[in-house]
Amino acid sequence: MEHADRRYLEAKRTVDDRALDHRVRDRLLDELPDAPRIREAGVGTGVTVPRLLDWGVTAGDYLGVDRDPDVIEYARERRASECGGDRIEGGFRVDDLTVRFEQGDALTAFEGAEADCVVAQAFLDLVPVDGALDAFADALTPGGLVYAPITFDGETTFQPDHPADDAVVAAYHDAIDAEPGRDARAGRHLLDRCRARDGDLLAVGASDWIVYPPYPADERAFLATILEFVAEAVGGRVAGADDWLRTRRRQLDAGRLSYVAHGYDALYRVE
Ligand SMILES: C[S@@+](CC[C@H](N)C(=O)[O-])C[C@H]1O[C@@H](n2cnc3c(N)ncnc32)[C@H](O)[C@@H]1O
Repeated sequence: MEHADRRYLEAKRTVDDRALDHRVRDRLLDELPDAPRIREAGVGTGVTVPRLLDWGVTAGDYLGVDRDPDVIEYARERRASECGGDRIEGGFRVDDLTVRFEQGDALTAFEGAEADCVVAQAFLDLVPVDGALDAFADALTPGGLVYAPITFDGETTFQPDHPADDAVVAAYHDAIDAEPGRDARAGRHLLDRCRARDGDLLAVGASDWIVYPPYPADERAFLATILEFVAEAVGGRVAGADDWLRTRRRQLDAGRLSYVAHGYDALYRVE
């Protein structure tokens, strides 16, 4: 992952903060044991760690895995300097919480971990949902939790209106679906798959990304990256897409572009 993508992951933090469903989060905190053993899949730059500390999870053992070594190195440094505490091999220790980040495939890395909770934020639209749920079940102790916030669910809106909106957005979602293992409607399918399994879907909430001017923090950069994702997906394949992209970039520069992406937060307990 390039430096620009680290910036995107950090810039989306304030967007996620607004989006996260507090009811699902509160249920998670009610269900977690003291000093939980937590594993996080597709950890990116590790922004869940300061969130957990803010939420009062200050004891236990946390391991975040990402396949990208660059974000893992960044997460170790950035989150250690943000959260304080003492450096340890692969991470740091703050209060009574041990935090480590490792490069690896999150669908195999946690097998037999006997974890209390697997976190998968903005991750389950990237991998086959059923395979991920199987892998997380193997990682969890009986009754363990899957917390899957910000799971994209195939609704994308840009404002103001543009005549090519429907064609561009449909092609964007189709391009996501065409990538092996990906699913633009992962959120609703996650809920279906959880209901079809033997565990309990404990809580569900909407967690829509809503970005509008004036853009706080680094959210202009976040939106610029979203436009790049759309450009890569639809470029040259949709009539009107070039004008759509030019118009959206101009609107972003002028501070007039808004964006919504629908997501779900889900909390599932395995048997
Ligand atoms: C959209 S980012 C989300 C990062 C972080 N969870 C967040 O919300 O900020 C998805 C991350 O998953 C990672 N990823 C995708 N497939 C993976 C896999 N099979 N194993 C580990 N990491 C993976 C990517 O490298 C990327 O950092």
